[in-house]
Amino acid sequence: MAEEKPLHRRRALRALLGYARPHRRKFLLGILCTFLAIAADLLQPVIVKTAIDDTIPLGESGIPILIGLGAAYALLAIVAFVFSYWQSNLLQRAGQAIVAQLRKDLFRHITNQSMSFFDRHPIGSLVTNESNDTETINQFFTQVLLSLVRDGFMLVMIIGFMFWLDAELALYAMILIPIIGAIALLFRRALRNAYHRSRAQLSRLIAFTAENLSGMSLIQAFHQEEEQYRRFTDTNRTYLKENLREVRATILFNRSFELLGNAAVAAAVWLGGYAVLHQKFEFGVLYAFITYIRQFFQPINQLTQQWNTLQSTMVSMERLWRIFSAEPEVRDPEPETAVALSPERVKGRIDFNQIRFSYLKGTEVLHDLDLHIRPGEFVGIVGVTGAGKSSLVSLLARFYDVDHGSVEIDGVDIRRIPQGTLHRIVGLVQQEPFLFSGTILDNVRLFREEIGRERVIEACRFVGADEMIARLPDGYETRLSERGSGLSAGERQLISFARIIVFQPKILILDEATANLDSHTERLVQQALDRAARGRTTLVIAHRLSTIRHADRIIVMRDGRIVEQGNHESLLAANGYYAELYRHSRSPHGLELTAVKGKED
Ligand SMILES: Nc1ncnc2c1ncn2[C@@H]1O[C@H](COP(=O)(O)OP(=O)(O)OP(=O)(O)O)[C@@H](O)[C@H]1O
Ligand SMILES: [Mg+2]
Repeated sequence: MAEEKPLHRRRALRALLGYARPHRRKFLLGILCTFLAIAADLLQPVIVKTAIDDTIPLGESGIPILIGLGAAYALLAIVAFVFSYWQSNLLQRAGQAIVAQLRKDLFRHITNQSMSFFDRHPIGSLVTNESNDTETINQFFTQVLLSLVRDGFMLVMIIGFMFWLDAELALYAMILIPIIGAIALLFRRALRNAYHRSRAQLSRLIAFTAENLSGMSLIQAFHQEEEQYRRFTDTNRTYLKENLREVRATILFNRSFELLGNAAVAAAVWLGGYAVLHQKFEFGVLYAFITYIRQFFQPINQLTQQWNTLQSTMVSMERLWRIFSAEPEVRDPEPETAVALSPERVKGRIDFNQIRFSYLKGTEVLHDLDLHIRPGEFVGIVGVTGAGKSSLVSLLARFYDVDHGSVEIDGVDIRRIPQGTLHRIVGLVQQEPFLFSGTILDNVRLFREEIGRERVIEACRFVGADEMIARLPDGYETRLSERGSGLSAGERQLISFARIIVFQPKILILDEATANLDSHTERLVQQALDRAARGRTTLVIAHRLSTIRHADRIIVMRDGRIVEQGNHESLLAANGYYAELYRHSRSPHGLELTAVKGKED
């Protein structure tokens, strides 16, 4: 691991520079502007020195020259202003463009990942990657790089000017460099540790807040406000403490630098004053020298500060590159093995051939499961919580790939069907239907402008969602907030049904929500399902057995295996596991299938 890190880092750095390449003209121009601005800045003390040493002694006759020098000084100030403005502008433009591109690529990369990726990466940390880490990288281009060029150059120039003014005094000043370096080294580690601790605490605070906000109903239902408030206060206090520690270290560092700077000026006054008194050099030289010594500290301070930024950039960069180097586990087939199925011509036969599947190595969820479904068949899947129903259908949508065996549609292994095509063939209404923030219209057509309003309305009418939508304040234009909160579970399901009708997949999967629908919505969902199922192969995972009573075939699952199958009547007649589930579902104490689980183990 220890040897791997620098390699990883080097690769990350190379990739980052790859992002910078298209902007190299901006960078070059920016650097040029930096040089000019610094040169203009540093020439100013030389002008004052000339005025003091060469012009003022001339008396009256020196006045025109003095005016000229004043004008030159002002001109240099303007030049410095203009070039540093351009330089900041150019570098910021390049940096921002790079980061915008990086954000875009990262988003695309993340959305292309397989579902297993999201099992491993919590959403909260991905959000941090997308927002914070990319921003830190922006600092690399706008601050670190700039500082490296500007302050490095400035330091060299200042040292050059000092030696030009007086080599002996300059040599004394050079003693400062190791001292400054030592102080910087000393503080650097403390600063970095403090920074990391406060960052880690901040992300803990953010994660805590986010989790709490999304679980608000639970918190209120269980009267957890005080408890959560206490936990928040703890986290908040720790963050405050870490922050203060960081601030303290920073202040101490900056003030030590200032102290050192003043000490250096004092030393220059003493040594230089002595030299002026003994007429080793003139007063103007001393003035210029003191100005340079003051300026001398600024670039060193800046450089050490940027060192810290560089450290956090590295951390961010490595984090981003770890994500960028994650390959999606579910991949599109190579062109030579791909099978071009036309979604319209698919018949809808489905074969699960002796499949085995596990989310995590070693804990198999589906064992040697064999299931063959005819085109147009209506299949119900039942079983208690955790039996593997959702897992089974997620394999058909290829959220994951099987470990063993194969899943086929019309006799074609789905690993050979491009995912774009597969998802047009298989339509899925999930257990917890997801709605985007946006209008109802856009949620049904999934933001595809080419699907007309009429088609959306027609689909909603078809599934019986029309009436419910008409009751909303703005009808189809009603804007849903995040995740469609504001709609009931049944209403969300109806809208996802309408989606299916609009997109016309040949295979329809419905993972029914456990939430009890009111009898009116339930009837609507039932009707919608019956209609949507027509002419399609349909798989319905049902918690309310009434939904699938009329299915052509009912698959009964238990612990990742199919334990029974047949139609409702034959299964009841067999008086096995299904009959037991059915009796429980009708008994007043066990309306939910989930309740059975406790009794059987
Ligand atoms: N993303 C995941 N990572 C790891 N294990 C998982 C994941 N999703 C499900 N499992 C496990 O796989 C098993 C089957 O889960 P699955 O979601 O398929 O059950 P289900 O039959 O759909 O249950 P429910 O009726 O509650 O929806 C469970 O033991 C569950 O803990
Ligand atoms: Mg499920």
